[in-house]
Amino acid sequence: MVVLLCFSLSLLAAVQCNGIKNCHAGCRCEVESFGLFDSFSLTRVDCRGLGPGTVMPVPIPLDTTHLDLSSNAVGPLSDAMLAGPGYTTLVSLDLSNNLLTKISPNALSKLRYLETLDLSHNSLESLPSNCFSGVPLTEVDLSHNSFREFDLDVFGTKVSGEPISVDLSNNRLVSVAKTEGKTLHIQTLNLSANRLTAVPRLAGLPLRYLNLDGNLIEEIKEGAFAPLRDLVYLSISSPHALHLIQPFSFKGLQSLQVLDLSNNLRLKALSTAVFSGLDALQELNLSGSGVASLPNNMLSHLPSVKSITLGKNVHCRRTQKQGQFHPQLGQVQHNEVLSCKEERVTL
Ligand SMILES: *[C@@H]1O[C@H](CO)[C@@H](O)[C@H](O)[C@H]1NC(C)=O
Ligand SMILES: *[C@@H]1O[C@H](CO)[C@@H](O)[C@H](O)[C@H]1NC(C)=O
Repeated sequence: MVVLLCFSLSLLAAVQCNGIKNCHAGCRCEVESFGLFDSFSLTRVDCRGLGPGTVMPVPIPLDTTHLDLSSNAVGPLSDAMLAGPGYTTLVSLDLSNNLLTKISPNALSKLRYLETLDLSHNSLESLPSNCFSGVPLTEVDLSHNSFREFDLDVFGTKVSGEPISVDLSNNRLVSVAKTEGKTLHIQTLNLSANRLTAVPRLAGLPLRYLNLDGNLIEEIKEGAFAPLRDLVYLSISSPHALHLIQPFSFKGLQSLQVLDLSNNLRLKALSTAVFSGLDALQELNLSGSGVASLPNNMLSHLPSVKSITLGKNVHCRRTQKQGQFHPQLGQVQHNEVLSCKEERVTL
């Protein structure tokens, strides 16, 4: 049994660290082999912090799949810098914590298999409109840069219809735009910690996750999110800004399961109609907000809700209250109520 286990483990993965051809002196190269007779392999190359004066493209082994070039003081990214042998097979590339201010239009064009790109912690203010053209990206991290305006159409040129996850948190965004009617496969969009003053128009995106925390949104208007039919998770926490959510603001969010409105200190009251259309909502978080009580008959608008958090530590759950046997009607009426209790803090 033990022998069999070891044998199958050795079939699954074998890591080889030495004797890899063309591994740059400052990098660590690792080949991981998988499958029967090591038929698949991944080459990971870690070239973090090579120091100033590094000449790019850094030589890497042929067939490299994962390359980490973070913390290298790379300035503007030119067309030639990612065009060496071994780069065409990259699946993942980390360029975070550099000094990137610009990306030239064809800098990424050789990366035909690139799925994951980390450009976070740089000084980017804009991207060329076709810089992802032909790149099959599924995940791009653009957080902690200097974008003020962002046009999501840049993801319209990427190859393959695979959904993409985009992190634009911690920028200086005042506007996020997309062309009406254009198909973009963005499924996750993180816009937290920016300077947006209104909910951006994102109609037509197949979004499932949207984070608008830490912006300057003061008001949410009727139909602000319509029609994001696939959205499952929405978080809007604008602690010192958000003070009004208009009735029917969440109209069209028929798949929404989690709505996080926590820490909106200035938000004092919500009308029942605010919750109209949230047929799938399971979890509503109002903790740390100014909302101290919930409107009457709000449950009629929230057929699926399971949990509501309120105030400091008040947690409400939907419970079935057994109705009384009605002598005249001869039936038991079920009455659904929210039962709330303060959660004991254990020290
Ligand atoms: C979105 O960004 C915020 C701030 O950087 C972070 O805390 C959060 O985890 C991010 N969400 C996802 C799904 O990555
Ligand atoms: C509600 O939000 C608060 C603050 O963001 C968080 O600490 C808490 O875990 C959330 N509660 C639920 C039930 O998700």
